[in-house]
Amino acid sequence: MWKRLYQNLYSNTTRTMSSKTKVLKVDPSCIHFSPTSYLDGSLPIITDPITKQNLMEAANIIRNTNEVIAFPTETVYGLGGSALSNESVLNIYKAKNRPSDNPLISHISSIDQLNRRIFNEEKNLENIFRNIPEVYHPLINNLWPGPLTILLSIPPNSKLSHFATAGQTTFAVRIPESPVARALIALSDTPIAAPSANTSTKPSPTTALHVIQDLDGRIPLILDGGSCHVGVESTVVDGLVSPPVLLRPGGFTYEEISKLGGPNWEHCVVEKKMHVGNMEKVRTPGMKYKHYSPKAKLILFTPEMDKIPLMERIHCVKTIIERESKGFKTIGILTSLVIPQDLVCPDNSSKYICESLGSNRKEIQSNLFAFLRKLDEDYNVDLIFVEGTDKNEEGLAIMNRLIKAAGGNIIPF
Ligand code: TXA
Ligand code: MG
Repeated sequence: MWKRLYQNLYSNTTRTMSSKTKVLKVDPSCIHFSPTSYLDGSLPIITDPITKQNLMEAANIIRNTNEVIAFPTETVYGLGGSALSNESVLNIYKAKNRPSDNPLISHISSIDQLNRRIFNEEKNLENIFRNIPEVYHPLINNLWPGPLTILLSIPPNSKLSHFATAGQTTFAVRIPESPVARALIALSDTPIAAPSANTSTKPSPTTALHVIQDLDGRIPLILDGGSCHVGVESTVVDGLVSPPVLLRPGGFTYEEISKLGGPNWEHCVVEKKMHVGNMEKVRTPGMKYKHYSPKAKLILFTPEMDKIPLMERIHCVKTIIERESKGFKTIGILTSLVIPQDLVCPDNSSKYICESLGSNRKEIQSNLFAFLRKLDEDYNVDLIFVEGTDKNEEGLAIMNRLIKAAGGNIIPF
């Protein structure tokens, strides 16, 4: 009996604590899906043999083992395992150090796969939207595949792991736009539960290198498909309540959801609650736990004083930077739309690293996590000042992440 116990223990340990993490390159431009594949589930044509072989290796791990692997999506890198297996999902929480009452998104490659693998039905392409409430149809027609996650009720005969849904009566699902992610899900024919592939609380990873920084030695495989262009996680919406709610701002803006979702979404509500009590269910990240934070202390400047002349505002920011920097060795400054970088970065001092996050909101969103990580990992700064944006368009997701990362250190300018 002891021998069996030991073997079980041993195999559990090697499963999650792989000593070496393999990084396999894949080329997204060689993966071709037909325009209807996200509905009918037809497989992609992959023209590069190495990409095909590496995707098959990763798909085999998802389909036939309980191990978890990292892969690129258009938003951030995901840490994925079969959403149908309790062991796989527990291994995700374990590798990330994530509290298991935070529900995960299940990623699918087609609506046909949703019907077969989550609703447990035989393949049937008639009335393909039959398991999806009408409120979502315009959103799906306009925005899938893409960074949009919807909530559905868990069907009674579902094989979804209850660890993936953290005991809720609903589950979250999306079809990613990234050809690598979709090919992996399609080839394994398995819904993949995948949070971002970072250690819990850190900024999400947007390159394979970021994943290595956090998870090297903890997972067997990373698919490297280059950097993620959206740069923040998907937008999570709940159409099962009235009025519908935008639970987490992300890759699609509030403006896009309310314009492209049809009449139901025109006045959808944005979830405002930033904290939940210990006994409450988590509906959006960072409500209960620290989130998106670099190691360094982060101070966020929020642009709220636009009646005051610009030079006065910049002078005020400069004064605060000088005052707050006292006692810190290396300091990062990230500017965005209002503050000109050369006007707030103290010159002739090597203790400041100054970068511009970008000249428009899309660029800022795409660079946000990567720049926070760069200051943390490459420059080892101990204090970061970030210029936030207004909350229009991508600004809502940008500020959602920055406010959580700042943990209360917020100064209007
Ligand atoms: O872009 C993304 O969505 C990335 C990539 C990898 O696809 N994934 C991601 O997953 O961010 P994750 O697991 O970190 O997002 C989980 C969030 C939860 O914190 C919550 O906001 C929402 O999705 N969620 C999941 N299931 C839910 C449920 N049943 N009810 C309410 N919210 C849910
Ligand atoms: Mg995350």
